[in-house]
Amino acid sequence: MMAGRSASAPAAEIDREEPVPARPLPAFQVGGVVVHHADEADIPAIVALNNLYAPDGLTLTRSEAFVTGHLQDYQVIRGANGRIRGQVALDEYAPSLAEIVSLAVAPDQQGQGLGQCLITAAEHLARERGHREIFAISLAEVLFLRMGYTLTSIEIYPEKIARYRSISRSELSIGRKFCFTKRL
Ligand SMILES: CC(C)(COP(=O)(O)OP(=O)(O)OC[C@H]1O[C@@H](n2cnc3c(N)ncnc32)[C@H](O)[C@@H]1OP(=O)(O)O)[C@@H](O)C(=O)NCCC(=O)NCCS
Repeated sequence: MMAGRSASAPAAEIDREEPVPARPLPAFQVGGVVVHHADEADIPAIVALNNLYAPDGLTLTRSEAFVTGHLQDYQVIRGANGRIRGQVALDEYAPSLAEIVSLAVAPDQQGQGLGQCLITAAEHLARERGHREIFAISLAEVLFLRMGYTLTSIEIYPEKIARYRSISRSELSIGRKFCFTKRL
């Protein structure tokens, strides 16, 4: 009798169980700056900041649908009223390799070290995911060299060239000039 009751009780509890809300991922702190995993409320601000730099070829244009689909790859530094001070994303190429993409700091927030914090947070996430190498295509040469990256040729990443070719030739030529890599 007792055995029968204890066997059926857990099943009844499971039937009544409510869906468990997703727990927010832990934030990453660099010095005094907190870098959060992005959540859905951040999406419009992420898209706006990212696309601010797209006309100059510094970032690739992103839609809200794209960011929604890749939200787990985005990290943000939040300001007041839902504003995004800066953001960064990881783009996985292989289990061992990821690219830093969508690195952007709001114009009035630049020069305070937020770019460095975002790169550090992206590296942390890459390590957590098991990537052993990270690279970035950027014009910010001093910034990446200061962060321990070395200048290399995009030719060492044929997967990246293939993706650029499917987008535009002009982005391929930018990539040839400023490709930075780091072992994690
Ligand atoms: C690159 C960027 C993210 C740096 O953010 P930041 O918060 O100003 O960075 P930090 O304060 O940590 O570091 C500043 C350093 O970045 C370098 N830097 C920033 N923007 C640069 C640019 N457009 N060209 C060259 N170097 C740049 C400078 O060397 C600067 O060093 P300094 O302060 O000694 O002069 C920011 O300038 C930005 O959003 N730029 C537009 C988008 C972009 O280029 N993204 C990179 C794609 S990978």
